[in-house]
Amino acid sequence: MTAAKSPQQAVASSTLCSIHGSLLTLATLTLISFTYISLKSLHSPFHDPSINSSPPPQVISRVENFVEEEDSPFSDIYHSPEIFRLNYREMEKNFKVYIYPDGDPNTFYQTPRKVTGKYASEGYFFQNIRESRFRTNDPDQAHLFFIPISCHKMRGKGTSYENMTVIVQNYVESLISKYPYWNRTLGADHFFVTCHDVGVRATEGVPFLVKNSIRVVCSPSYDVGFIPHKDVALPQVLQPFALPAGGNDIENRTTLGFWAGHRNSKIRVILARVWENDTELDIMNNRINRAAGELLYQKRFYRTKFCICPGGSQVNSARIADSIHYGCVPVILSNYYDLPFNDILDWRKFSVVLKELDVYQLKQILKNIPDAEFVALHNNLVQVQKHFQWNSPPIRYDAFHMIMYELWLRHQVIKY
Ligand SMILES: *[C@@H]1O[C@H](CO)[C@@H](O)[C@H](O)[C@H]1NC(C)=O
Ligand SMILES: *[C@@H]1O[C@H](CO)[C@@H](O)[C@H](O)[C@H]1NC(C)=O
Ligand SMILES: *[C@@H]1O[C@H](CO)[C@@H](O)[C@H](O)[C@H]1NC(C)=O
Ligand SMILES: *[C@@H]1O[C@H](CO)[C@@H](O)[C@H](O)[C@H]1NC(C)=O
Repeated sequence: MTAAKSPQQAVASSTLCSIHGSLLTLATLTLISFTYISLKSLHSPFHDPSINSSPPPQVISRVENFVEEEDSPFSDIYHSPEIFRLNYREMEKNFKVYIYPDGDPNTFYQTPRKVTGKYASEGYFFQNIRESRFRTNDPDQAHLFFIPISCHKMRGKGTSYENMTVIVQNYVESLISKYPYWNRTLGADHFFVTCHDVGVRATEGVPFLVKNSIRVVCSPSYDVGFIPHKDVALPQVLQPFALPAGGNDIENRTTLGFWAGHRNSKIRVILARVWENDTELDIMNNRINRAAGELLYQKRFYRTKFCICPGGSQVNSARIADSIHYGCVPVILSNYYDLPFNDILDWRKFSVVLKELDVYQLKQILKNIPDAEFVALHNNLVQVQKHFQWNSPPIRYDAFHMIMYELWLRHQVIKY
C-alpha cells in the first residue's frame, strides 16, 4: 500500500491549484483516490502503475461502482462504509503520532485532572493515546505531532484566562525553538485536544496554533472559529455512565419526547416555555431534583423515544452522548453545530436534526415520524453507541479511534 503515496500527492497538488483551493474538496478527492488505490491493490495482485496518472473524475466513478457491489452490513450509518472500513484499517496499521514530552507533568501539561465528569473526553484522549499503538517516540516516523496542553487542569488550579494564554504561549514557543518540526509547516501537522471551552481561548496567544494546527474541541460551533475541514469535533461524553446502555427496548419507550435541564440559552427558554405543560412531550422547565429519586433523569431516557438536545451555554452538550448511550433518538435542536464524526457517520440515520425555529412545531414533527422509521433510527442508534464511548485501554471503533481516524483523514492533506 506504500504505492498509494505518490498518486495521493499528485491528486492533492493538482486539486489545490485548480479548484478554488478548497481543502474540503482536496480531502474528499484524496480520500477517494486513496481508497480507490487500496481497493485496486486488493483486487489485482499486480499493481498497475498507470493509475498514478488517472484523473480524479474517473477515479470517483470507479469507486462508486465498486461500493454499489459491496454488501455492507453498516451501509445505513456510514456515508461510505467501504471507504471507512479500508481506510480505518490503513490507519490502524500505519498511523503514528509523536507526543511532545516537555512540560512539567505535575503542573499544566501532559495530564488532565481526571477522566470523569463533563470534560472526560479530554482526559480519556490523553490517557488513550499513551496506551495506544499510534504513539511513536521517533519524531521522524510521525505523521502528526500532539501538543499536550490540558487547560482543564489549569482551570482546576484557578488560573485566570489571561495567565493561561501566557502559559500556553510560553510552552508552545519553547517547543518551536527547541524542536525543528513546527517550523516545517508552521504547525499544520500539529494538533491539540481540549474539551473545556477555555482551552480554545487559552491558545489565542499563538495565532498559528489557531490558524494552522488541528484543533480537536468539544465546542465546534462555526461562530467561535471552528473550521470544519481542519478542526475536529470532539464528542462531549459524561463518563462513567450511571446506568447500562439501552437498546432493543422500544416497547418500553412510551413517552414521545423528553428534556430537562438548565434554561441557560435562548432556545432552552423557548423550549420550556412552549412545551412545559404538554401531555405528550415530557419537557421540564428545570433540572430534575436529585431528592425526587435515584437516577430519575437517566431512567427517563429509557422510557422515551426522542430526547431533545438543544444547545446550552455551549453548542455542544453531553446530553447527545447520553441519549445515544440510553438508546433514545437524539433530536438536535441547533442552527450551527458541526456534529462529531459527521463526515463519517450519517447523523440523519440515527438522529433527528432540526433548526431552532422548528421548536414551535416540535410535537407535530416528532408525531409525523412513522413507527417504522423510529424503529430504524433506534436500531441504527444502537449500532453507533460504540463510537461515542471511551475505554481504557481504547478498543477498536470507540470514541478514541474515531478521533484518531478524523486526524488520519486530515493528515492525508498535510504532508511534510
Ligand atoms: C496571574 O499571573 C500573575 C503573574 O505571574 C500572578 O501574580 C497572578 O496571581 C496570576 N493570577 C491568576 C488568577 O492566576
Ligand atoms: C523556528 O522559527 C522561529 C521564528 O523564525 C525561530 O525563533 C525558532 O528558533 C525556529 N526554531 C528552530 C528549531 O529553528
Ligand atoms: C422494560 O421495562 C421493564 C420495567 O422497568 C424492565 O423490567 C424490562 O427489562 C424492560 N424491557 C426491556 C426490553 O428493556
Ligand atoms: C403551564 O402551567 C402553569 C401552571 O398552571 C402556568 O403558570 C403556565 O403559564 C403554563 N404554561 C403554558 C405555556 O401554558
